[in-house]
Amino acid sequence: MKIFVLTGAGVSAESGLGTFRDKDGVWTKYDLSEVATPEGFARNPALVRDFYNARRANLAAAEPNAAHVALARLEAALGDDLFLCTQNVDDLHEKAGSKRVVHMHGELAVTRCHHCQATRPDVGALTAEAVCAACGRDGGARPHVVWFGEMPLYMEEIEDALAEADLFVSIGTSGSVYPAAGFVSEARAMGIATCEINLEPSANAYVFDEKLYGPASEVVPAWVEKVLTQG
Ligand code: OAD
Repeated sequence: MKIFVLTGAGVSAESGLGTFRDKDGVWTKYDLSEVATPEGFARNPALVRDFYNARRANLAAAEPNAAHVALARLEAALGDDLFLCTQNVDDLHEKAGSKRVVHMHGELAVTRCHHCQATRPDVGALTAEAVCAACGRDGGARPHVVWFGEMPLYMEEIEDALAEADLFVSIGTSGSVYPAAGFVSEARAMGIATCEINLEPSANAYVFDEKLYGPASEVVPAWVEKVLTQG
């Protein structure tokens, strides 16, 4: 059985990384148009770098939880029959042992040059003075994170994997940010079984065939156990 798993901020919530739209979520404290758009970066790059430097510091201290560990176990058992697509920019799936994670919204621990688009792994602080090793210019260091108004990454690979899947499972995501929020309807239209795992019903919960509600750290390991024992 080929399984396509989509994860969102809810899978990392119990690792201490904030979600976005919940009460006390990141977007209740920060104006996303200021810190998560190309226009915001052009207006005030220092504010944007400070925001992501704080998130890099939080990430350095975060550990994967039982949900990440269970998904790594599922990958170890299924190999290429598991496609793990995440909207998360954290590296907790990798820290838990997942090897083939597709980060459609980019990665926090990667720096991109806004001038030439060169990327490099980097967990240090983003600064205006940093000189890009590829183009030699300064002032362009930004996180390799997809901002609002930018195209998500790996969409062709993702669409191909979705079309091949027998089961689509959405874990800990609000169902309100496209294109990821549309995957469940695409899956349904292709006759693929769908399952939502979340703390509570998401915005598009009504589209899913199966719904499992509770903390990801409890529900995901139980679901993985069921898949591995019942097939
Ligand atoms: P949201 O913060 O919008 O939604 C988090 C979801 O996780 C909600 O549906 C919660 O009910 C659920 N949740 C919270 N705690 C949970 C737990 N312990 N177990 C299970 N579920 C839990 O995050 P996303 O939908 O992932 O994009 O956000 C999508 C995108 O919007 C992000 O990738 C980010 C953001 O703006 C960019 O920055 C481009």
